[in-house]
Amino acid sequence: MSESGEATDGLTALAEVHAEDFSSRNARAAWCVGQLERGNVLLFSPSEFSLPAADREFLLAQQQSSAIYHKNIAYRPGPDRLTGLQTPRREDAERLRGILSDFSREATRFVRETLAPYGDGIRLDFASFRPIEERGRPNRTRARNDLLHTDAFPTRPTGGDRILRFFVNLNPSVPRVWITSETFGPLAERYGRAAGLDAVARAARSPLGHAGRRLCRSLGLTVRSPYDRFMMGFHNWLKENDEFQRTCVKSRWEFAPGAVWMVYTDMVSHAVRSGQFALEQTFLVSRGAMWQPALSPAGVLERLCGCPVTD
Ligand SMILES: [Fe+2]
Repeated sequence: MSESGEATDGLTALAEVHAEDFSSRNARAAWCVGQLERGNVLLFSPSEFSLPAADREFLLAQQQSSAIYHKNIAYRPGPDRLTGLQTPRREDAERLRGILSDFSREATRFVRETLAPYGDGIRLDFASFRPIEERGRPNRTRARNDLLHTDAFPTRPTGGDRILRFFVNLNPSVPRVWITSETFGPLAERYGRAAGLDAVARAARSPLGHAGRRLCRSLGLTVRSPYDRFMMGFHNWLKENDEFQRTCVKSRWEFAPGAVWMVYTDMVSHAVRSGQFALEQTFLVSRGAMWQPALSPAGVLERLCGCPVTD
């Protein structure tokens, strides 16, 4: 691992988890929760989470058919379904579904154990297999992974719950390279207003807006809270801001072959500069489960707006 620049407040650091450093599982879990909520990346020894060799080899062999993978392959644990896979051989699709299902179950076990203090506050979201080389990958600006951003989901607003992502670099010889900048707190303080914070604060304070959102939800419609509007807008604003991308302070991280890491990607600004073959599992962690709610994006926005932002 390497880091360019001094570690200072508001910058993401790497928190390496060494089992021998802790006297108990509880002590380790408490330390992990604290590091994550501070906006650091938890890095584990590859020996703590590994895939069966045959599954790994099958996934790595998918590079031979990369032409059919136009995007990442998503796995939805609930309905046990793959999306993003184009014209596959049926037996390959079945095998892939089985591998991702096993990965999702093991990742859930690992994350629940590692972050035991959150208890039932951890909910399972989608998983993904990322077989495409990230360097030079063509995409729309807002969909590019190589531009710094904080995460927000266009179709699945979280209402202030946290986006936690668990990654494994499957590549046997090439690191996955990330860039991070400042965490959400300092970024929102500096750029929030330019990214539309005042309009979000007005929407949050408006009784009419609040009643309208409640009505729409009662009709079964997906409605973005002021929080979700800001988070989505901020994601886009950061990616589309050339000056920010060019001039912001940056740290560079190399996740070695086999590396296993997790991070709150709604708080840690991140960009994937290169790498091929990763597995990822997303979790949503209840805002109410946070140990340091003031550091969470919703806590930051409520401080800046002076009112609740999550309906
Ligand atoms: Fe992201």
